[in-house]
Amino acid sequence: MENPFVFGSELEPGRLLERTEEVAQVVRTITERQKLFLIGPRRFGKTSILNVAEHEARSAGAVVLRHDAEAYPTFEALVNAIVTSAARELTTHLKRTGEQVTRFFATLGPRINYDAGANTWTASLGIGDPRAAQSPLLLLDALDGVAAMAAALDRPVALILDEFQRLVEVGGEDIERQLSATIRRHVRVAYVFAGSKTTLLNDMTLNPARPFYRLGCRLVLGPVPRAGFSEAIHKGFLTAGFDADPEAIERLLDLAEDVPYNVQALANMGWEIVRGQASGKHLTIALLEHALERLVSEDGPFYSKLWNLCTQAQQRALTAVASLHGRGLHTQETLQRFRLSPALMTRSLGSLASRDIIRREETHTDVRWRLEDPFFAAWLTKVGAVPPVQSHLRQAPGRDRHRSPLAGAHPLRRME
Ligand SMILES: Nc1ncnc2c1ncn2[C@@H]1O[C@H](COP(=O)(O)OP(=O)(O)OP(=O)(O)O)[C@@H](O)[C@H]1O
Ligand SMILES: [Mg+2]
Repeated sequence: MENPFVFGSELEPGRLLERTEEVAQVVRTITERQKLFLIGPRRFGKTSILNVAEHEARSAGAVVLRHDAEAYPTFEALVNAIVTSAARELTTHLKRTGEQVTRFFATLGPRINYDAGANTWTASLGIGDPRAAQSPLLLLDALDGVAAMAAALDRPVALILDEFQRLVEVGGEDIERQLSATIRRHVRVAYVFAGSKTTLLNDMTLNPARPFYRLGCRLVLGPVPRAGFSEAIHKGFLTAGFDADPEAIERLLDLAEDVPYNVQALANMGWEIVRGQASGKHLTIALLEHALERLVSEDGPFYSKLWNLCTQAQQRALTAVASLHGRGLHTQETLQRFRLSPALMTRSLGSLASRDIIRREETHTDVRWRLEDPFFAAWLTKVGAVPPVQSHLRQAPGRDRHRSPLAGAHPLRRME
């Protein structure tokens, strides 16, 4: 029997819950050759939405190139991947692909190779000067190539860049300005930019002084609606012949703070524990808390490492965020309690946010800092950094079943 709760990778079409509207907007952007910014916190399901939308847009006849800017160590590697995927896509739509690719991407001078055995295309860029090969401006040439390709095809061509803020973080103001100017010229190409640094992306897209202002529509991702998630969790237990108490499901969503990845991870562990019960195979609050304890124990080495990489001031700021649920961090009382000056608190929060450990959530009435991974708060409680009253985690014997929690480039991406 397979555990129905999947986490850590992009979801396939049948598994994505409650994102019909979002997927439809991405598909519309592609088929109507528009531009869209998909903005959402870490692990809210951005990549999964892009994946499902890509499937649908392809079925509607579009050519879709999708890349994750964080997955490539250099601009050259990203550009290489874009050209390679363009060559692969063109194979199905044009004759003499190699020749066409060389023409579209002329400024990059690509060499396109076809490996008939593996049926794959690879591109190696013909840039002689190693400094030019590192230049972010290479990307602009690649985008011009995609636009030339779009002009030659009678179907929508889309470039989806996931975690695209990385380009601006690395390339700075220059690339932001030039990228925006290039993209504005490309009226026949659909662009979808997804990103998780919500504060940065909001500023990039809402600040009239910045180049990306009004470049496209914005789609800001919230949590998966509770009703749909609860129902799917219940169904996951029922289908296996188990059951789950409604209060336990509610508690699960609370503990995971509605972050879809954490919801799925906890449901997955809860399901395993219920499966292991000799009798009474249903999820109760007690079993759920046991599931959280196990998850936190397993990821203990990961959390310890994250904690030890923080300076003392950052540790105190982090403890304040977890203890006070991210509110009132600059009051006199909080600063005294956590022995931080206002400036040091601000600086520490900033560096924790830049490392994706916390994020700032702002509404018109409230500002709140949140842990990107809500289970980190449970670990902080477990090790005594945060008073237990703030957490629902009960102390239970540790069961370390190490599963390489540091896998993956991103500090909080453990299962990819
Ligand atoms: N709509 C959803 N329905 C069910 N599970 C979801 C949904 N969205 C996200 N998830 C869960 O969250 C996990 C992470 O999803 P995904 O990788 O798409 O998020 P992301 O926002 O791209 O994350 P990251 O910021 O790390 O790139 C999925 O594997 C799945 O367990
Ligand atoms: Mg992602």
